[in-house]
Amino acid sequence: MAERPEALQDFLASLRSEIGQRQWGAAAGRCLWRVFDALDRARPVAAKTPARLPACAYLGDALTTARAAGPSLAKIADAFAALEPHLTWTRRASADQTASANFTDGHANAMIVGPNGYEPRDDVWVGVSLLAPDVRYPDHHHAPEEVYLVLSKGRFRQGEDDWFEPSIGGSFYNTPHIKHAMASGSTPLFAVWCLAPAT
Ligand SMILES: [Fe+2]
Repeated sequence: MAERPEALQDFLASLRSEIGQRQWGAAAGRCLWRVFDALDRARPVAAKTPARLPACAYLGDALTTARAAGPSLAKIADAFAALEPHLTWTRRASADQTASANFTDGHANAMIVGPNGYEPRDDVWVGVSLLAPDVRYPDHHHAPEEVYLVLSKGRFRQGEDDWFEPSIGGSFYNTPHIKHAMASGSTPLFAVWCLAPAT
C-alpha cells in the first residue's frame, strides 16, 4: 500500500477526527463509513503541477473564518493550508443558467482524493469548493452519495427545497443523484465534500 505524504495524511486525519465526533443519521453515517474504509487503502499521489485560480484569492479569508470557529475546524483549516500548495484548483467543466454571471472566475474546486486528484482514484472522492462572495454555483447532481462539511457561511439547496444555511461547521448529506447547489453571501463559501464508493 502506498504511503501518503504527511500533508495529505494530516488533512484526512483532521477530517476523520471531526467527522468521528459527530452524530450522523443512518444514511450519512453509512456513507462516511464507506468513505473512510476506502481511504484506509492509500494510493500513490500524482505528479501534477499545482495550480491556483482567481477565486483562490479568497482562501485566506475562508481559512481565517474556519480557524475562528473552534479547535477542531482550526485543525482542518491548518491541515488544508499545508496541503493546498500541492493541489490543482480547477473550474467546473460546465455551468448552465442556474449559475450566477460571475461564476467562472468566482469559484474554484480542488480534488484531493478522487478522479484527477492529488491522490487519483475512482472509488472515493474528497475535495473542496471555494466560492468568492455573491456567487451561485449551478445546479448539479452525481451518482455517488455525498456528505458536505461546511467551513464557512453559505447557503445550500437540495432538489426543489428551500435554501438552508448549515452555518460554520455544519454538515449535510446528499442522496444519490439528488440535484443540489450552493451560494455564497457577502463572505466566501468554503466546503469539503466526501463522496462514497458505489456499493
Ligand atoms: Fe456534489
